[in-house]
Amino acid sequence: MDGLDALKGKYLEGISGAGDESALEEIRLAALGKKGEISLKMRELGKMDPEQRQATGQALNALKDEIDTALRAKKEALGDAALDARLKTEWLDVTLPGRPRGQGTIHPVSQVTDEVTAIFADMGFAVAEGPQIESDWYNFDALNIAPEHPARQEHDTFFMHRDAGDNRPPHVLRTHTSPVQIRAMQDQGAPIRVIAPGRVYRMDMDQTHAPMFHQIEGLAIDRDLSMANLKWVLEEFLSAFFETRVATRFRASHFPFTEPSAEVDIQCSWVGGQLRIGEGDGWMEVLGSGMVHPHVLRAGGIDPEEWQGFAFGIGIDRLAMLKYGIPDLRAFFESDLRWLRHYGFASLDMPTVHGGLSR
Ligand code: DAH
Repeated sequence: MDGLDALKGKYLEGISGAGDESALEEIRLAALGKKGEISLKMRELGKMDPEQRQATGQALNALKDEIDTALRAKKEALGDAALDARLKTEWLDVTLPGRPRGQGTIHPVSQVTDEVTAIFADMGFAVAEGPQIESDWYNFDALNIAPEHPARQEHDTFFMHRDAGDNRPPHVLRTHTSPVQIRAMQDQGAPIRVIAPGRVYRMDMDQTHAPMFHQIEGLAIDRDLSMANLKWVLEEFLSAFFETRVATRFRASHFPFTEPSAEVDIQCSWVGGQLRIGEGDGWMEVLGSGMVHPHVLRAGGIDPEEWQGFAFGIGIDRLAMLKYGIPDLRAFFESDLRWLRHYGFASLDMPTVHGGLSR
C-alpha cells in the first residue's frame, strides 16, 4: 500500500508538469497502458488472498480513477492553452478598412489580339508561335528575301551582336511575323491553317511607328486555295472585327514571299474629321497579302506541285487605333496609367464571336 502513495505522487506530479499532449500520453501509457505500472499491479491481485485482494483492489481502482481524472483535466487545460495561443496569433480585426487593390485593365493590343484570334479561330485557324530573336534565314532567306534584296534594307533590321571573329550571319529581332509561316509549315506540314500574332521590331519611331509593334500573320495551305478564298476570309474577318459590313479593295503589290501579291484597303469615310469604317467612298490600306510563293512553300518543306495557299500580314496596333479611335501609336508603349485606364478593357470581358467582341 505504501508503494501506491509513491506511485500516486509520481504520476500526479508528472501530469501537472506535462507540457503538451504527447507528454501526457506518455504518462498515461506508463501508468494505465497495457504494460503500465498500475495495470501490472492489477494483474497481481489474482495471486493474493481474498482479504488482501479486496483492500488492494479498492486502493488500486481509486488510484486509477484519480490519475485518469488528472489526465483528463490536464488535457483540457493544454487544449485551452493551445487555442489561446492560436487565437493570439490569428486574430483578425474585422473593423479595419479593407486593403485597396489596384484594378488593372486589358491593354488594347491584348484586347485586339484576342478579338482577332477569336474571329480566326471561328474560321478554323489555330495559333502558331515563333521566337522574337530569329535567324536571318527564317526572317529573310526562307521568305524569298535574298541577301542583296532591297527589302532587307527597307526593314530597318535590329541585328544581334556576335563576338569579333564570329563570321556567321547575326540573328535579328524579327522584322515581321512572316517567319512563323516557315516554322509552322515545317512543324505541321500541309494542309495547314494558322495565324501567328506577336511582337516585331524595326528601327523606326514617329507618331505612327514604334521600334516594337505587333502583327498577325495568317497562312492557309491546301490543294486548291485561291485568291477568292483569301478575299472571302479577309472580308469575313474585317467585317466581324469592325462589327459592320466592310468592303475591301485589292491593289496589286509586291512582296517577295507572295505571287501574286495584294495590298488590301478597307472602305471608309471621313465625316467632320471622324473616321467611319465600312461606309463612304474612301479607302485605307490595312494589310498585305498574296498567294504563297513556291520558294516559300519549299523552304517550309511543302511541295508546291501539290499544295498552294495564301498568306497575309496585319498590323495589330493599327487595327486597335482604327477600331478604338486611338490617335498616337507611341502612347501604346509608354505605360501611362491614365492612358491605360482610359483605353484599357475590363478584364472579365473575354472577346468571343458569339458573345460579342468588344464592350
Ligand atoms: N511581312 C509583311 C510586312 O511585315 C506583311 C505581309 C505581307 C505578310 C504580305 C504576308 C503577306 O503574309 O502575304 O510588311
